[in-house]
Amino acid sequence: MTKTEFTAVVPVAGTGTRLRPHTYTYPKVLLTVGDKPIIGHILDDLHAAGIKKICMVVGYLGDKIKEYVAKNYRHLDVSYVEQAEQKGLGHAIWLTRRNVTGPVVVMLGDTILDADLSKFMTSKEDCIAVKEVKDPRRFGVVEVKGGYISAMVEKPENPKTNLAIVGIYSFHNSSALYNSLEKLVDSGRTTKGEIQFTDAMAAMVRDGHKIRPVPIEGWYDCGKPETLLETNRHILDKKKFSPKAKNSLIIPPVYISPTAKVENSIVGPYASIGDGASIDSSIISDSIVNENASIRNMNLSGSLVGPSATVIGRKDQLNVGENSEIKFDKTVCE
Ligand code: UTP
Repeated sequence: MTKTEFTAVVPVAGTGTRLRPHTYTYPKVLLTVGDKPIIGHILDDLHAAGIKKICMVVGYLGDKIKEYVAKNYRHLDVSYVEQAEQKGLGHAIWLTRRNVTGPVVVMLGDTILDADLSKFMTSKEDCIAVKEVKDPRRFGVVEVKGGYISAMVEKPENPKTNLAIVGIYSFHNSSALYNSLEKLVDSGRTTKGEIQFTDAMAAMVRDGHKIRPVPIEGWYDCGKPETLLETNRHILDKKKFSPKAKNSLIIPPVYISPTAKVENSIVGPYASIGDGASIDSSIISDSIVNENASIRNMNLSGSLVGPSATVIGRKDQLNVGENSEIKFDKTVCE
């Protein structure tokens, strides 16, 4: 089987509640991390792995995603399926059953993997990426026997292992996967209120289907503010950008879009400044400033500034005499 025969299913219909308020008006996958939106990294990585056909499941703010993909990814053959109601990942993938024949690779829309994805397509076996995590209760968790997955449970209260499922799955025979999803959807069974992809795969495993767990180290989640900033730091460390800014000090690693305007500022380490953003007289580190945002007279760290947001701080003027003591930090005075 060659890599190009695979269709990639990328579900991006979720509402992204953990990234509110950004996701009230902007779909999670269009938020910037490093030098481009999350979905840009995912589509580039799939393309680099040899994928030509992609089926995206869109729902919440889906038109904005379609617009971005149409503008930037004309070289990929992308089809769309609408998920009107976010009933869960299993439901989202089941909806793609008429768009996909042959082998399928499912890649979550909020995970960036720093790994050779092509091995999921060149392996002769069905594969799921896994990683040991400290607290597996937030994830799908697998048990392994004889080198294959022997059981899997979504968000277990008492996990039997710490091997979490981390966002990429490949199946050579997509009909087997869609049949299991169909049974699950027909049964109306949910776990934690959602039709879970893990439950459909768990049923396949119970029926004797062989799935190989593939350990992956470079797994970067983009689902929460703190993990988005962590992923940003990783991307900036990995890709060495050479940003330019007027009358400013750049402390690498930093990304500044060629269309952003940065002046009289100290930027970095770990700052990403998106397209059309404007930074003036500010100090910005460990932060993501999305497209067309505007920042003046601010000192920001560990911050996410949404697209077209404006943040203006204070510039004071002092005429300070001998032995004066001036404290702006309220906690110091108390
Ligand atoms: P998440 O579980 O992270 O959900 O979905 P979410 O809506 O994106 O974010 P939170 O939990 O509310 O903060 C993992 C992936 O599955 C997609 C999401 O878009 C994301 O890429 N998904 C999830 C769907 O496409 N449909 C669904 O019904 C659920």
